[in-house]
Amino acid sequence: MKKFSVVIAGGGSTFTPGIVRMLVENLGRFPLERLYLYDNDGERQAILGEAIEIMLSEEAPDIDFAYTTDPKKAFTGMDFCMAHIRVGKYAMRELDEKIPLKHDLIGQETCGPGGMAYGMRSIGGMMELIDLMEQYAPECWMLNYSNPAAIVAEACRVLRPDSKVLNICDMPVGTLRRMSQILGTTPDQLEVDYFGLNHFGWWTSIRGKDGTDYTEQVKAYVKENGYLNQVEIDTQHTDPSWQETHKKAKDLFAVEPRFLPNTYLQYYLFPEDMVAHSNPEYTRANEVMGGREKEVFDTARRIIANGTAKENGFHIDSHASFIVDLARAIAFNTHERMIMIVENNGAIANFPDDAMVEVPCIVGSKGPEPIAQGKIPNFEQALMFQQVTSEKLLVEGFIEGSYQKVWQAFTLSRTIPTATKAREVLDDLIVANGDFWPELK
Ligand code: NAD
Ligand code: G6P
Ligand code: MN
Repeated sequence: MKKFSVVIAGGGSTFTPGIVRMLVENLGRFPLERLYLYDNDGERQAILGEAIEIMLSEEAPDIDFAYTTDPKKAFTGMDFCMAHIRVGKYAMRELDEKIPLKHDLIGQETCGPGGMAYGMRSIGGMMELIDLMEQYAPECWMLNYSNPAAIVAEACRVLRPDSKVLNICDMPVGTLRRMSQILGTTPDQLEVDYFGLNHFGWWTSIRGKDGTDYTEQVKAYVKENGYLNQVEIDTQHTDPSWQETHKKAKDLFAVEPRFLPNTYLQYYLFPEDMVAHSNPEYTRANEVMGGREKEVFDTARRIIANGTAKENGFHIDSHASFIVDLARAIAFNTHERMIMIVENNGAIANFPDDAMVEVPCIVGSKGPEPIAQGKIPNFEQALMFQQVTSEKLLVEGFIEGSYQKVWQAFTLSRTIPTATKAREVLDDLIVANGDFWPELK
């Protein structure tokens, strides 16, 4: 079997150790020749890099492993780049969340004003990463988790239309895992239909691989409990704020009982509830810095101090399994069905061709082939059109350096009620983001 070479970009990410563990546990299905980490913050990455080096020396000593800040070393000859960078890191995520809250607007990593602020930072970093990949590894595929995925995907469509970049999100897989638990089965036994934008979509059908339709059974559960499970089965999406989110799906379902909602719709359909339940002094960024980030880096430091990862090592979750399955699907042309972010081109019949949408796709060595989801109802179509237009205007505003377009993008977001508010929060975000954003005229 061919052995593959993988670079993880954003090597210092809190998700890197989980992906490496997943890769190690799947070497029989996806053999590795080389595994490199790449980050532009060498110090942060070195903590994880050193610990992973110890782990691999114990479990998979044949893999050529390295961590580097040198793009030439990182990318040359790679088959896959698994990307998850965070331009501005947690310090800027905290501001993305706290600045809008000062204006009584939702403060969220990928949705609303904070998400748009993050988008304005991410586009430049992502384009740089794509260019480095293409310079040193023209055949390489980038499997990209870096957020905000909707805005990044639109920027890729416009700025790098021919690049081999696939933008993905773990929320549909994470929620499917919850659905599978509701049904007393496992995600690999289920097949779904889904349509939407990233962090803005609905499941229309949940079926068993044998064709049994479970949609009504899942709906009946969500109507009462949202996606809150009785017993936790994953290590991701389990903090108290995530539990609130899973529960809130019940309210989202009440608005549209024909379908099963993506939890991120809470920020668009119930923004005032989300603001009311936020603590402007302690947001999700604080919860993650004191939680996942601390735990991952503490674990790494412990591995380094002990010189072994055999006990108390890193763990894996559905986030890691998805990206490894995706790499396999491309590498071995498996034609697995996966939800991906792709250019619409008719997949949703009554939605613009040039919108980046999230739909099930058949994935093989050519990449994703979208599965047609037919026509969608007016309610969803209208919500999605408003949202996708906001995302497109933001990307245009970034490219043209246009204050006007970015202001319009903010004004169109359902999370911001008026153009006045949009301008106030935008002006604060411009100051806070400094050189992370292009200058807007
Ligand atoms: P993190 O801050 O722990 O890690 C990000 C790393 O990226 C940091 O080490 C940082 O130094 C590095 N980085 C920043 N800019 C870079 C650049 N230009 N080149 C190379 N490296 C750069 O963040 P995290 O919480 O682990 O999340 C990582 C990313 O994954 C975020 O964008 C997050 O939103 C995203 N994510 C996406 C999904 C999804 O569903 N799409 C799921 C989980 C996480
Ligand atoms: C989900 C989403 C990601 C997002 C993450 C935030 O997995 O799909 O796009 O980045 O949640 O999680 P966090 O734990 O960092 O708040
Ligand atoms: Mn996501």
